[in-house]
Amino acid sequence: MFRGGPISIAEYMEEVLTNPKAGFYINRDVFGAEGDFITSPEVSQMFGEMIGVWAMCLWEQMGQPNRVNLVELGPGRGTLMMDLLRGASKFKNFTESLHLHLVECSPTLQKLQHQNLKCVDEDHMADNVGKRTISTLAGTPVSWHSALEQVPSGLPTIIIAHEFYDALPVHQFQRVSHGWCEKMVDLEEDSSTFRFVLSPQPTPAILYLMKRCKWAATEEIAKLDQIEVCPKAMELTQTIAKRISSDGGGALIIDYGLNKVVSDSLQAIRKHKFVHILDNPGSADLSAYVDFASIRRSAEEVSGEVSVHGPMTQSQFLGSLGINFRVEALLQNCTEEQAESLRTGYWRLVGEGEAPFWEGPEEEVPIGMGTRYMAMSIVNKKQGTPVPFQ
Ligand SMILES: C[S@@+](CC[C@H](N)C(=O)[O-])C[C@H]1O[C@@H](n2cnc3c(N)ncnc32)[C@H](O)[C@@H]1O
Repeated sequence: MFRGGPISIAEYMEEVLTNPKAGFYINRDVFGAEGDFITSPEVSQMFGEMIGVWAMCLWEQMGQPNRVNLVELGPGRGTLMMDLLRGASKFKNFTESLHLHLVECSPTLQKLQHQNLKCVDEDHMADNVGKRTISTLAGTPVSWHSALEQVPSGLPTIIIAHEFYDALPVHQFQRVSHGWCEKMVDLEEDSSTFRFVLSPQPTPAILYLMKRCKWAATEEIAKLDQIEVCPKAMELTQTIAKRISSDGGGALIIDYGLNKVVSDSLQAIRKHKFVHILDNPGSADLSAYVDFASIRRSAEEVSGEVSVHGPMTQSQFLGSLGINFRVEALLQNCTEEQAESLRTGYWRLVGEGEAPFWEGPEEEVPIGMGTRYMAMSIVNKKQGTPVPFQ
């Protein structure tokens, strides 16, 4: 009503997730059995530990620099970073090189990250540094930012984005007789609920649709009646690629998605069940499949100094990094109850397809993550090929 007309799905998604007053992520902890959905770091400590192995291998390939920015985009509860630091804490040369930069829009989740990383705030007024926050898990300085652009540049950088891209707003287009129309969100006549409408004429976001279509084969587009594009994912990838070109290092992106144009994937999840996208906005998570092919093209377009690797399935990624050895080692020294939880966690992380974990009704969210989730890496070419993409 304020706008005097419908808004794009991307704008709707951004408001629903990150509106500073009422956004889904802003005021509460949405993860785990009690929350709305579960993520790999919450499933098992082994996930963060394996990402730690990946980061340490890259750091070695970078020539073991003694100062590194380790950036995590959208750290949630901070569990991945907690397991990474705890797992890496014996490798002092690595942990002592790190400055952690957490990019997080939610004040509530920032507090939870502070708590879970066992942070202490130190006063450094004497040497003019001001306040410094240290994670006591590995003695690492930690800073928070609301966007990647705010992370100081000039140091070799390792960036981790786990389930961050899927929260970025997507535009949806529908094929009609005279071309492509954008799907928009409008008010019902009585102004009490929302409904979808099609834009009568092309919207500015059509430029991104055209760009995405140019990156695909004509036959791939011809088969589709709906297409989703994520301009924020393209822009973020370009920021990552430029940063890695100038400062060295690499990025790891893990998310669910496809290595091709995405047609219609936007979904809403509340309390572990699929619900309608327009139902009670702000009370359910909205997410969309990540278009890995478009991430690759965005990175390659902006810099000749980076190389892009993958995607490969999460199952292959964790398997090649040695998760089977890790689970075996942990099983040597635990109670029967812990062993059960380790085995279940392991299979949820690497389980191929949906069975045997999911035989429930359609509205239930499947829980096997091994093949639905994929890993991709963007590195400075000087670093060579990152593990385990060789
Ligand atoms: C799906 S959760 C993933 C959390 C965590 N990586 C995990 O795997 O458990 C998305 C995270 O990104 C944050 N987030 C979403 N959109 C953001 C944005 N535009 N800027 C900064 N943080 C954002 C959320 O608050 C949340 O921490």
